[in-house]
Amino acid sequence: MIEPLAEHTPVLPEEVVRLLAPQPGEVVVDATVGAGGHACLLADAIGAGGVLYGLDVDSEALEIAAGRLAQCACRVSLHRCNFAGLGLILRESGVLGVDIILADLGVSSMQLANRQRGFSFSSEGLLDMRMDDRLETRACDLVNSLSEQQLADVIYKHSQERFSRRISKWICSARREGRITTTAQLVEVVCKALRVNPRSRRSKIHPATRTFQALRIAVNDELAALGKLLEQAPQYLNPGGRLGIISFHSLEDGMVKHDFRRRKDEELYEVLTKRPVIADQGERVANPRSRSAKLRVARRIARL
Ligand SMILES: C[S@@+](CC[C@H](N)C(=O)[O-])C[C@H]1O[C@@H](n2cnc3c(N)ncnc32)[C@H](O)[C@@H]1O
Repeated sequence: MIEPLAEHTPVLPEEVVRLLAPQPGEVVVDATVGAGGHACLLADAIGAGGVLYGLDVDSEALEIAAGRLAQCACRVSLHRCNFAGLGLILRESGVLGVDIILADLGVSSMQLANRQRGFSFSSEGLLDMRMDDRLETRACDLVNSLSEQQLADVIYKHSQERFSRRISKWICSARREGRITTTAQLVEVVCKALRVNPRSRRSKIHPATRTFQALRIAVNDELAALGKLLEQAPQYLNPGGRLGIISFHSLEDGMVKHDFRRRKDEELYEVLTKRPVIADQGERVANPRSRSAKLRVARRIARL
């Protein structure tokens, strides 16, 4: 049964438009088009003479984005692909340079709210976590097949969970009783490993937050994809072109910060955000997803 979709509210909308400064007639890539929220804002600014390329791995997201972007005056070209393949898509489309690239990383509210997708520890569903349902490996496949050491490494590497070894040990012992296939089963095992009651609010975050984040990043190979996007971006940005990345955890933000710093040293980028831009109090209250969002923007200043 398909559940009703949650609305996705774009984070930092004013800051994205202010810092990326889209101009009439420009060419924009929204590398994570999602529900099309940021894309619509950028599309309105580039107007009838502009072109917007929207990428997403999730076919449901692309359907929603297509519906919303149909109202926009600019030319819109949507592609079901991973932004790790940005260069290929642009070359196939005959595009040599673009003026703006935006990536708003991670999952959308629609993906989180759809319990069949298995992203959320707060609703029961199959432990899937694939943003792209063409991928072969789901979170439950990792949880049931990796060795105790591999699982501990996956959890630690993608979330810095302090108790990764203990969690992995408990998962491996639980799966000897039968496969772990649902989000609720995983939450139960993690809570037992950490000796916490999931309903007691001793810490600000749910005890399974880091384990879920780690598995999601591993299933979707998110850090490798971000690395490839950062690597390719300067090749495709026109001089003066802007690259904006919105990240939601320190691993991603660290990658973006270091990449921008390296390109600045190579005299390829001017960094427009000395510190990451974060949501103000009003947005944090209105849109809880924005609380961990960090936006960094760089401008291309030279040819490669
Ligand atoms: C936070 S949402 C983007 C929301 C969008 N900015 C909006 O305003 O509606 C992230 C989207 O990026 C997609 N995504 C995540 N990683 C991706 C990747 N490596 N390549 C392409 N799409 C990706 C997800 O499927 C999801 O739809």
